[in-house]
Amino acid sequence: MDIKLVFQDAAGLATPLLAVLAVDIAIGKDAEPLIALLTTSSAITNAAAAVIASGEFKSGLGDQLLLHKPNGLKAERLLIVGLGKAKNLSVDEVRKGAGAAIRAAKPRGVRQMAIAFPEDHALSDEHLDNLPCTLLCRALVEGAVISERDWDTYKSDRKDSSLENLTVVSPTTEESTTKEIQLGFEEGRIVGEAQNFARVLVNEPSNVLTPTELGKRAKAMCTEMGLKCEVYSTAKLEDLKMGAFMAVAKGSAQPPALVVMTYEPKGEKGNTPQSGGPVIGLVGKGITFDTGGISLKPADGMEKMKYDMAGAAAMIGAMRAIAQLKPAVKVIGILCSAENMPSGTAYKPGDIVTAMSGKTIEIMNTDAEGRLVLADGLHYAKTLGCTHLINAATLTGACVVALGMINAGVFSNNEDAYERFERSLRVSGEKFWRLPCTDDYKDQIKSQIADIMNTGGSRWGGAISAAMFLKEFAEDTPWVHLDIAGCAWNEEVKPWHPKGPSGIAVRSILEWVRTYSA
Ligand code: BES
Ligand code: ZN
Ligand code: ZN
Repeated sequence: MDIKLVFQDAAGLATPLLAVLAVDIAIGKDAEPLIALLTTSSAITNAAAAVIASGEFKSGLGDQLLLHKPNGLKAERLLIVGLGKAKNLSVDEVRKGAGAAIRAAKPRGVRQMAIAFPEDHALSDEHLDNLPCTLLCRALVEGAVISERDWDTYKSDRKDSSLENLTVVSPTTEESTTKEIQLGFEEGRIVGEAQNFARVLVNEPSNVLTPTELGKRAKAMCTEMGLKCEVYSTAKLEDLKMGAFMAVAKGSAQPPALVVMTYEPKGEKGNTPQSGGPVIGLVGKGITFDTGGISLKPADGMEKMKYDMAGAAAMIGAMRAIAQLKPAVKVIGILCSAENMPSGTAYKPGDIVTAMSGKTIEIMNTDAEGRLVLADGLHYAKTLGCTHLINAATLTGACVVALGMINAGVFSNNEDAYERFERSLRVSGEKFWRLPCTDDYKDQIKSQIADIMNTGGSRWGGAISAAMFLKEFAEDTPWVHLDIAGCAWNEEVKPWHPKGPSGIAVRSILEWVRTYSA
């Protein structure tokens, strides 16, 4: 999809479809909806006046109404998209509303469309005025770019319904505001495309996306974006004595991949490792298929376990955006990729393995494999000089039990690192909920005969046991752990997304990294 930004009156734009966002400005719980279009164009407001007056359109988030041949507009169609109540309006509604507009247009065979940048000078001040233009435009464009994807590439009778181009149109003439909008537009495109890059990987079946293939795709992305990338396999894992990672990998005919992607800030002053600045490590769980291994998973739903590499995909996506947005901080992305299989060479419950850090691990359950590959990934990141760590993983079913599919889990051993993450969420609009990993929980992973074991002793607090395990390898390094098991795959259709890979965490990880930029 080609996407461009123009500054003109949307009413004068000739396009097959013009989308405009709307809010309900009624005050009070039982008040009838009072609809306001987020545009300063009186021509657009007039064109929609009769249908708005009819009361048919309630302006709930993602609601749509389509007018053909709108009076006084050059557009062939006018699509009104609801963002819900004005008083609840945030950039997140704008992101979703833009997505709903794109997804409403696609099945109508529309290949070119425009969307009016939300403006509300016509309304009272409080609605959009406290949302910065840059963030607003960024969210609008992100929403559009990520909603455009459908996951039908493996359908042999697939009809290409992709949008050819989208025009974002703002009536602003003031120079400083146009600059802010322009900046948000560029960022939104970069971030949306990075998220889509991750989603494409998550969508791939495991017979296509093996660890080796994941390494190749990461390498290709890095080459395209000017990042350094090394892809290692079994020999390197042996060299580094990554006993935990190797244990998981050895049951599969597919060799593992250890990927190291490096971004070095160029020409920026300040925050370089040379001047004592931080080095950020992004570590992703890349299990391209999780059968559970010898502790085999039930057949029902096992096909989903192709998405057990969504943490690694998020890191690839984040690195892609970092390469383009160029924060003034060094970032190293590490992917720990393997296939977890039962076989004659597989690791077994009761085995004791030695991680790269030297810690010994008693294997209680071979299905708790994610924490094993990450243990070595986190330790390795520190040996490469990382001073701050974040990892993302579809780590535990227990996290899904705790938080459902709306919030993903976040854990941290460091208040500053966590607060930065929380701030990042305000920009990314993603939902994460903090769970504890204080040392009170340490007993849960105590082993009788090794240093630690790879599951919690009881079935309670399973997401926390997993976090406690990882914390053993982050040690004192400021660290944030994202458990995205419940949110990496959209199980429900929404007006702004289809079922399929969500690309969660790309946006938040990127923003977290940017908080360390000089
Ligand atoms: N990949 C799974 C976690 C998962 C569950 C991801 C549901 C997405 C949706 C992970 O490797 C796993 O199997 N974890 C076990 C750990 C247990 C054996 C301690 C789990 O959560 O059941
Ligand atoms: Zn597992
Ligand atoms: Zn897994």
